[in-house]
Amino acid sequence: MLKLTYISHSAFILDDGENQVIIDPYITGNPTATIKWQDVSANYIALTHAHGDHFGDTLEIAKANKSTVIAVNELANYVASKGVNTHNMHIGGSHNFPFGKLKFTIAHHGSSNNDGEYMGEPAGIVITIGGKTIYHAGDTGIFMDMKLIGELNQIDVFLVPIGGNFTMDISDAAKATEFVNPKLVIPNHYNTFPAIVADPNEFKQLVEKDGFNCRVMNYGETIEL
Ligand code: NI
Ligand code: MN
Repeated sequence: MLKLTYISHSAFILDDGENQVIIDPYITGNPTATIKWQDVSANYIALTHAHGDHFGDTLEIAKANKSTVIAVNELANYVASKGVNTHNMHIGGSHNFPFGKLKFTIAHHGSSNNDGEYMGEPAGIVITIGGKTIYHAGDTGIFMDMKLIGELNQIDVFLVPIGGNFTMDISDAAKATEFVNPKLVIPNHYNTFPAIVADPNEFKQLVEKDGFNCRVMNYGETIEL
């Protein structure tokens, strides 16, 4: 069994009852977050890229919980230089963790940190935990290889950005959903800032027309899968 919590923006917590994995823990300064970073007790933090609205409270959470940060090599080395445990990986590579398998995919985006230093390639994450396979696309434009990701993995839940401007917009995200062919799609990365205002129900209607299940989650909401 898997509990999935949507914090807001791109931040999700996956909980199999023994392990908690938080993806892109942007909480402090996130105008739509309903929790504090101190409320998070994840033993793993997985990062799609280094931008502040994804890296977020990584160092604080990791230090308080002795969490392991999973990221591509360049970003993981930066995190390790701050005194935090890391598991360095890279795109196309997968590893079996106590919670299950995690693999990094490509994403078309950037990955500099708040000091403007480049932190390697941005990524998406395919993670199997609690018997479910989740694809978190990270920040990205649409790309044809999403079809391959959907063919190589039976995706139970697709976490897709819909806010436009920095990532896919609603119509591209709907096409991406066709490529990935998930059992459930959950939109994210919208309405956090004026530049990424989008109506998730418009996305929901669009993908439902194509026969997909879509769930628009509230900030702080948890669902069981
Ligand atoms: Ni970004
Ligand atoms: Mn972002």
